[in-house]
Amino acid sequence: LTVLVLGSTGYAGMLLVRLLSSHPNVTSILAVSGSAAGRAVRESDPGLSRHGADKIPGGVYLSPDQAAQKKPDAVLAALPHLESSKLLEPYYGRSVVIDLAADFRIQDTAIFEKAYGTPPPRGDLLPQAVYGLCEVYRKQIKESDIIANPGCYPTASLLPIIPLLRASLIQGPIILNALSGITGAGKKARADYLFAERAENVNAYAPGQSHRHWAEMSEQAAVSGLSGELFFTPHLVPIRKGIEVTGVARLAPGTTGEAIRGALGSAYDGAPFVTLAGDRIPQTRDVRDTNRCDIGWKIEGEHLFFFSVIDNLMKGASGQAVQNMNIRFGLDEAAGLPLTGSS
Ligand SMILES: NC(=O)c1ccc[n+]([C@@H]2O[C@H](COP(=O)([O-])OP(=O)(O)OC[C@H]3O[C@@H](n4cnc5c(N)ncnc54)[C@H](OP(=O)(O)O)[C@@H]3O)[C@@H](O)[C@H]2O)c1
Repeated sequence: LTVLVLGSTGYAGMLLVRLLSSHPNVTSILAVSGSAAGRAVRESDPGLSRHGADKIPGGVYLSPDQAAQKKPDAVLAALPHLESSKLLEPYYGRSVVIDLAADFRIQDTAIFEKAYGTPPPRGDLLPQAVYGLCEVYRKQIKESDIIANPGCYPTASLLPIIPLLRASLIQGPIILNALSGITGAGKKARADYLFAERAENVNAYAPGQSHRHWAEMSEQAAVSGLSGELFFTPHLVPIRKGIEVTGVARLAPGTTGEAIRGALGSAYDGAPFVTLAGDRIPQTRDVRDTNRCDIGWKIEGEHLFFFSVIDNLMKGASGQAVQNMNIRFGLDEAAGLPLTGSS
C-alpha cells in the first residue's frame, strides 16, 4: 500500500509514520507536513529508523500542495479538528480516508455543532462515514471509504460498556472518571502544559457535557441502548502517555457476574487488542506502547465498577488508525501493531 499521512510532525502523525515504517504491507509513506515541508523526516524524528525512512520518497516531508497531486491507497489525517476535513478535500472519493480528528465522528449535526461551535464542515459526507471503533464496527469499516477514528477517552470508555448496553445488562446513569497523560492534548506550547505546571499535580477539567468527547460518547452509548445519563469527568495526571477510565453503572435487575463475563467474552472473542482482565484492575503500564485496551471489572451489590486502560497515542489514536486501515484493506488486523510493550 501507499499511505499518505497529514500532520506528520504532531504526536499522532509522527507515531503514524513510525508505525507505517515497519508495517509489512506498506511499501511507500507520503509524509506530509505544513510546517516542515522539504525537510528531512529523520531531522524531526531521529527516532525513526534509517531502514524505516527508506519507505519515504526522498526521505523528506511533502507540502500539502505537493501531496494533493498524489493518489495514495489510504490517507491518515492527524490534524486539528475542523482543519482535517479541509486538508482531506483532494482525497474524498480517490483514497480511503481515515480521520483522527472529530470531523466525521458524530452523526447528529446538532450535537456536533453544540460541541464544536460550528456544523460539521462536510456534513454531506457523514452518511458515508463510519465510526472507527474497530472491535464494534469491524463489518462497516470493511466497506467504508471514510473512517472516523474515535477519540481517546471514547475508545477507553466505550469498549467496556457497548457490549453490556447491547445486551441490556447495565443501565444509566453511567459515571465515568478518566485520567489522561499530557500527550492527550497534542504538541502545544502552552503554559499549563509545562513540566513545572504538570509534575506532581493533578486536576479535573471540562467536567460533564463541557468536554467535547462527551458528545461523541453519549451518541455512541445511546445508539447502543443507553437510556439514562452519562456523566464524564476527565483529569490530567503527570504521565506522558496513557488513559485510565474508572466507571460505575447500575446493573439491570437480575444481571449476574457470569452474564457480564459472557457478554464481554463473546464481544471480544478473537479480538487481538482487547484483554479481559476480569477482577484484576489493569494499569496504564500494562498497555503502554501497545495497541491494546485492557478491561477489568467488579460487581458490588447492584452496581458494576469497571476499569479500562489504553495508550492514548496508540489505541487512542494512531494505533487504532492503522488497525482501521488493516481492517479496511483485508490485511491481518494486527499487522504493524505492537501487542506487547517494553514495561
Ligand atoms: N494526542 C492524542 O492522544 C490524540 C488521541 C486521539 C485523537 N487525537 C486527534 O488527532 C489529531 C492530531 O492530534 P495530535 O495530538 O497529534 O496533535 P498535535 O501534536 O498538535 O499535531 C497536530 C499537527 O497538525 C498540523 N497542524 C497544526 N495546526 C494546523 C493548522 N492550523 N492547519 C493545518 N495543520 C495544522 C501540524 O503538523 P504539520 O505542521 O506537520 O502539518 C501539527 O503538528 C487531533 O485531531 C487530535 O484530536 C489525538
